[in-house]
Amino acid sequence: MNSIDCNAPIGLFDSGIGGLSVYLHLAQQLPAERYVYYADTLNVPYGNRDSKDIEALTLMAVDWLCQQGCKLIVIACNSASAYALEKARRYYPQLIIVGLVPALKPAVLASKSRCVAVLATKATLNGSLLDEVINSIAKPNNTSVIKYFDPHLVPWVEAGMPEQDETAVRLRQQLQAFAKEGIDQLVLGCTHYPFFKTFLLDEIDKKQLPMQVVDSGQAIAERVKQLLITNQLSAVLDNEEKIYHSQTKNETKVDIKPPLIFYATKYDDKLTALVERLLGKNIRLQYYSK
Ligand code: DGL
Repeated sequence: MNSIDCNAPIGLFDSGIGGLSVYLHLAQQLPAERYVYYADTLNVPYGNRDSKDIEALTLMAVDWLCQQGCKLIVIACNSASAYALEKARRYYPQLIIVGLVPALKPAVLASKSRCVAVLATKATLNGSLLDEVINSIAKPNNTSVIKYFDPHLVPWVEAGMPEQDETAVRLRQQLQAFAKEGIDQLVLGCTHYPFFKTFLLDEIDKKQLPMQVVDSGQAIAERVKQLLITNQLSAVLDNEEKIYHSQTKNETKVDIKPPLIFYATKYDDKLTALVERLLGKNIRLQYYSK
């Protein structure tokens, strides 16, 4: 008998706003679910931190999401998953915890040139989760894996990806360098990176580069869906419960979708504007403070 409430929310955690790229896939595939998002904006970026630091910050976030009564938690951060997934599962055995690892497997299986690149943080590239996939999938398929790291990518996304920034220029040049090396699959191994996927695809299209861009968002949403079904935890909201009311000054708005509860360890006006820009106007947000 399952004692977890199937209408409890799904928790998501990232060092910053990157995990929202995973949330977008989840919200699309599982629209009846409620979501609580924890962004550790006070400590972002995690990618340059040491493993102990990442582990401690991640366990704090998982603990907070657990206290919110989440039925399942997605560690929507490759860096955090690399150093804390195992421990989080050990500390919270009653919880279903899903972690992220760069989508190297589908990239290797799709590669014709047998050369792929993984773009990720230093922490993810040095972690054992990625090496496990290299050893079990890339090596047996004779595929070489180039690990690429630029410490400015996460801060660039957190800053709203200004196109005139040096990081954007470098990224364009790097794409050409990858193409010259014969790389035909580019794995976005950090949840911040799908937010510049369109930027990459535009450049690939403009320069006619024979390259595909892969990320984990869709597969993670499918995995979560499967886990909810297997554990009989899919939300079962009746029609009345599906209607959420939000009170504004002069009117009561009625919406059929539950809002995303967004908690950040540090707020400012820029963060609010960025979250709204990344999620689009139709998404309802409810900010949360401790
Ligand atoms: N979004 C995170 C990841 O997937 C980490 C970014 C960071 O804080 O360095 O790795």
